[in-house]
Amino acid sequence: MLQQIKTVTVIGSGTMGNGICHVFAQGGYNVHMMDINQAALDRAIGTIGKNMDRQVTKGSLTEADKAAALGRIATYTDLATAVKDADLIIEAATENIDLKMKIFQDLDKLAPENAILATNTSSISITRIASYTRRPTKVIGMHFMNPVPVMKLVEIINGYATDAKVTELIYDLSKQLGKVPCVVNDYPGFIANRILMPMINEAILSLQEGVAGVEEIDTIMKLGMAHPMGPLQLADFIGLDTCLAILNVLYTGFGNQKYAPASLLINMVQAGYLGAKSGEGFYKYTPGSKELVVSDRLASKQWKM
Ligand code: CAA
Repeated sequence: MLQQIKTVTVIGSGTMGNGICHVFAQGGYNVHMMDINQAALDRAIGTIGKNMDRQVTKGSLTEADKAAALGRIATYTDLATAVKDADLIIEAATENIDLKMKIFQDLDKLAPENAILATNTSSISITRIASYTRRPTKVIGMHFMNPVPVMKLVEIINGYATDAKVTELIYDLSKQLGKVPCVVNDYPGFIANRILMPMINEAILSLQEGVAGVEEIDTIMKLGMAHPMGPLQLADFIGLDTCLAILNVLYTGFGNQKYAPASLLINMVQAGYLGAKSGEGFYKYTPGSKELVVSDRLASKQWKM
């Protein structure tokens, strides 16, 4: 554990928030998990327990360490109580600039003066988020990847005013958690999504133009480029609404037509086909089944011999 950081508050208990709580609790930190809804917090604790069970089953975590880690997580629905003794606060709420503005304005008032304010945003400007506080030197991007307990990368994003000492501390902390940190600067999409999202968008454009079907596109990228998931399956995994929101940040941020989201992606999001979380995107999802079945709406585009 790093000396300067003992208590970490994570705001948001969704997929990213509970994954971040999982790794910090396992790393020995006191974790305060905050959400506006107690039922969401209870579900998140259940998810963390199940994900830790996978580690216990394969022998990378003992039952005793699991129990100790879960014991380090406390849940809160009140922001003031959740942050009052925090050394580091990581915001992992929905990707919505107005919501983040409100959270960071509140954090600036409620968090201890020396606390570092980090955001897990996947594409919103760190400099803009920092501008909602009176401590922009202490605001930084700490972008974890999904699933957080599995993925090694932490993309650390410096806002325009971020203090180099804060970057160094977050870098060391990420390493101490067993992650591999990479520091980048604050431009639209940073690095991860500036490169990932145009690839996903190109896969959707290829499908839209009928160049190939869903399975062909994903198989080519999986087996041809050794990606663990094809780009369409990955888009479903991330959430098509999130992919669209990030592409719009790139499109408006750079003002370049090459980032314009595919019409098929826009249509799917408007129709509520958001990927795994809504039960259907490019594929159909059945709870408890790992089988990949192409959505009926897109199956006619498959090449069948
Ligand atoms: N918590 C803990 N462990 C987990 C887990 C979780 N939530 N999910 C999976 N695992 C573990 C499993 O226990 C398993 O461990 P072992 O190999 O040691 O047995 C391992 O991860 C693989 O899991 P599965 O066997 O269940 O499934 P898989 O082999 O198909 O792998 C995957 C699943 C890890 C998700 C893999 O498909 C993968 O790496 N996919 C790509 C993920 C990716 O690209 N993520 C980044 C998305 S972009 C993003 O997050 C940022 C953004 O801004 C949009």
